[in-house]
Amino acid sequence: MQLSPLQSRLAASVIASCLLLAIYLFLLSPQFALAAELSSIPIDHETEVDAERWNPEQMLADGVEALETLDIRSDTYEPVFAPFDRSIMGRAQTGVKAMVNNAPVKMNLEPSSWSTFVFEVSSVSGRDDSGNTDGVRELRRELNVSQNPKDEIYGVGLKIEDDVGVQPELAKRATKTLWISANTCIQPEPDSDKTTMTPPQLTLFVSTSKTNTSPGPLAPPNQQEFRVFDEGAVMWNTTLSEDVYFTVSAPNVSTEFSSRFYNVEIAASVDQSYHSYGEKTALYWVDSDANATLLMTGNLTNSSGEAIATPPYTMFAYNQDEKAVVGVRNSFCGLKLYAQIGGTRSSLRTDMMRTGMTTRGQQNATRQEFYFNGLNSSTSYTGILAREPGVNALGKRDGAGGGGAVFNTTQFSTKDSGTCTIIYNLTFCDQTAYAVPGNTSRFADAIALASFYDDYAKSVYDNFNKAMQQIPCDTGTTAKYSLVRGCSDCKSAYKDWLCSIAIPRCEDFSKMDKFLQMRNINALFPDGHKVDENITAAYGGNKAYNSSRVPRIDDEISPGPYKEVLPCDDLCYNIVQSCPSSLGFSCPVPGMRGFNNSYGHRAASGDSNVTCNFPGSAHIVSRATILTVPWVVVVVLMGSVLLLT
Ligand SMILES: *[C@@H]1O[C@H](CO)[C@@H](O)[C@H](O)[C@H]1NC(C)=O
Ligand SMILES: *[C@@H]1O[C@H](CO)[C@@H](O)[C@H](O)[C@H]1NC(C)=O
Ligand SMILES: *[C@@H]1O[C@H](CO)[C@@H](O)[C@H](O)[C@H]1NC(C)=O
Ligand SMILES: *[C@@H]1O[C@H](CO)[C@@H](O)[C@H](O)[C@H]1NC(C)=O
Ligand SMILES: *[C@@H]1O[C@H](CO)[C@@H](O)[C@H](O)[C@H]1NC(C)=O
Ligand SMILES: *[C@@H]1O[C@H](CO)[C@@H](O)[C@H](O)[C@H]1NC(C)=O
Ligand SMILES: *[C@@H]1O[C@H](CO)[C@@H](O)[C@H](O)[C@H]1NC(C)=O
Ligand SMILES: *[C@@H]1O[C@H](CO)[C@@H](O)[C@H](O)[C@H]1NC(C)=O
Ligand SMILES: *[C@@H]1O[C@H](CO)[C@@H](O)[C@H](O)[C@H]1NC(C)=O
Ligand SMILES: *[C@@H]1O[C@H](CO)[C@@H](O)[C@H](O)[C@H]1NC(C)=O
Ligand SMILES: *[C@@H]1O[C@H](CO)[C@@H](O)[C@H](O)[C@H]1NC(C)=O
Ligand SMILES: *[C@@H]1O[C@H](CO)[C@@H](O)[C@H](O)[C@H]1NC(C)=O
Repeated sequence: MQLSPLQSRLAASVIASCLLLAIYLFLLSPQFALAAELSSIPIDHETEVDAERWNPEQMLADGVEALETLDIRSDTYEPVFAPFDRSIMGRAQTGVKAMVNNAPVKMNLEPSSWSTFVFEVSSVSGRDDSGNTDGVRELRRELNVSQNPKDEIYGVGLKIEDDVGVQPELAKRATKTLWISANTCIQPEPDSDKTTMTPPQLTLFVSTSKTNTSPGPLAPPNQQEFRVFDEGAVMWNTTLSEDVYFTVSAPNVSTEFSSRFYNVEIAASVDQSYHSYGEKTALYWVDSDANATLLMTGNLTNSSGEAIATPPYTMFAYNQDEKAVVGVRNSFCGLKLYAQIGGTRSSLRTDMMRTGMTTRGQQNATRQEFYFNGLNSSTSYTGILAREPGVNALGKRDGAGGGGAVFNTTQFSTKDSGTCTIIYNLTFCDQTAYAVPGNTSRFADAIALASFYDDYAKSVYDNFNKAMQQIPCDTGTTAKYSLVRGCSDCKSAYKDWLCSIAIPRCEDFSKMDKFLQMRNINALFPDGHKVDENITAAYGGNKAYNSSRVPRIDDEISPGPYKEVLPCDDLCYNIVQSCPSSLGFSCPVPGMRGFNNSYGHRAASGDSNVTCNFPGSAHIVSRATILTVPWVVVVVLMGSVLLLT
């Protein structure tokens, strides 16, 4: 068909208009594209939520603290970085809160609601690794960076390490990690009349995809990842190369809960996970009595010379029947509220835990110990070691992991009768910390009982020390009694042995383990009942069973019947090996009369039970090196046999 000049002019202008419109749409109308995409999102009916309840403004208003901590800059904050164009930087959408490095946001979440955040990659670009978290200073630093002559090599903004100047920042930025973490601080409370259900957990959704800037239960699953909170905590990490969008979403909560909202603290950090949980850190259960227990961390320093300013750890504990804490056991702020011992909501006394530093145990290293009292007898407890926010493993305040860290749990239980009393923090027997035969009607106070034992051991040691003064110790090698051992070895071997002998380690009479030795069986239990008649009939006439190892214990403490964890035999052999033979020490050998009532053997390797008593022993011990002494060394019986039954 032939077009008239007018028609062809019209066609040309129509085509030109269409092209212009196409160019306009292509260049300037991202909103249209976004709208089209949103409406095409398929709705997942399983996770469908009540859209009416989702009111971000209301949620923000609910989170009172959120208003204080949240930097609501997303609408007005437009950072201007010289090297970047605005279109590259992007900008948080309305309703999405911009998250600042290491600045936690605390907010309330109603059931079936959620809140979305963005961590913009630009908010940390050019950031140095000195822990500077001041956004404003960072901006200036960024602007000022071109004054560094080295920058000319890499271009503006690609800062190289100031002094060392090895790695271009670009290489580092490519591998920068973003940690997202959150803790549930308040969870719904079941109405105890209606349900025994534990509260459901929150969920974290994360999207690093530009096409999904509002991750959550409604967004396409293939454009996001999610992680359900584990006992009130979640940790997530990703390589930080794009803006990261993330959402914390609350599930539908049954109406059988009397309070139904959550309070959650959420944080993003490029330094380390702000909140952390699950890491294993040694926490040893040392021993307990009917009302108290003692726990201890592993060594915190390698040498005793290193002082630790603040005790770095704290502890929470709860009894096995306790339900309030279920659901927040990995959350520091949750434990602080709900834990039976250590939580502010608990009706129990707040002074049940005492803590301090100690060098007891192997290697003279510093450890932290925890003493709990006011516990119920015959009860199992779970202890949770945690680190206060902003304190590092050496107790220094360095702002690390500002949300606190929750470590793995340790179980412990209390004894059933009041015969045994736990003592610790002794002056002379400084390695002694375990339950000893006690009597609450004579020694109501564990501290008085501790000094009774300690003073007794010290007086015996003083006599020994006098004998030692007759021995040439610090003379030349020709006069010394041994080339390999000196008097200090002998003294410390004697002290280890003496503290284990003079301060018997006490167990409940009801314990049936083979390595336990019955003591004082003719006495009455604290509640007035007697040992089974068949037992007293068989053993009541035997001194090894009807009395304590040290007569003074029966005279002055007069404990009920108990069982003793016998001292380890190697403590005795160590004296024989370390001390001059003129002192006449020798040990009984297995098979000799009295041996089985006097000494125990260490558990086989791999068995964590304490089968015999030694300085610094705990329920779980790292294996100490055991001195093995050939039996022949031990035979000469010159004087005192180290046998006390
Ligand atoms: C929550 O669950 C209850 C029943 O379990 C249901 O009636 C209610 O509509 C749900 N709410 C939402 C927001 O899905
Ligand atoms: C830029 O850096 C120089 C020296 O490094 C400093 O003296 C100057 O005050 C800085 N300027 C700004 C705006 O921070
Ligand atoms: C990131 O998380 C994974 C588990 O999802 C973990 O194995 C990895 O160690 C974490 N990386 C860092 C640097 O924490
Ligand atoms: C603690 O460690 C035990 C085994 O060592 C493990 O079974 C348990 O899941 C851990 N608990 C936590 C909270 O990580
Ligand atoms: C303890 O010593 C080990 C190895 O000797 C070392 O790796 C570690 O950093 C030291 N710890 C402290 C707290 O000094
Ligand atoms: C604690 O002692 C062990 C065993 O010697 C050692 O390997 C470890 O490095 C010490 N830990 C610390 C934190 O010093
Ligand atoms: C041990 O005793 C010392 C004083 O003798 C005291 O300062 C410290 O707090 C005690 N440790 C504990 C855990 O009670
Ligand atoms: C343990 O540390 C104390 C205090 O620093 C020191 O006096 C003592 O000699 C040390 N003991 C050993 C066995 O290193
Ligand atoms: C001890 O038992 C009572 C009664 O069962 C309970 O209320 C209390 O919380 C328990 N205390 C501890 C520390 O377990
Ligand atoms: C301490 O233990 C005894 C059992 O020996 C028990 O009768 C008493 O109730 C306990 N005290 C507390 C405060 O739980
Ligand atoms: C004591 O021994 C007798 C005879 O061996 C036995 O019948 C009785 O049940 C035993 N008593 C207890 C409490 O075990
Ligand atoms: C160690 O203790 C556990 C629990 O108390 C017990 O079941 C086990 O038999 C003990 N092992 C030995 C060798 O006594």
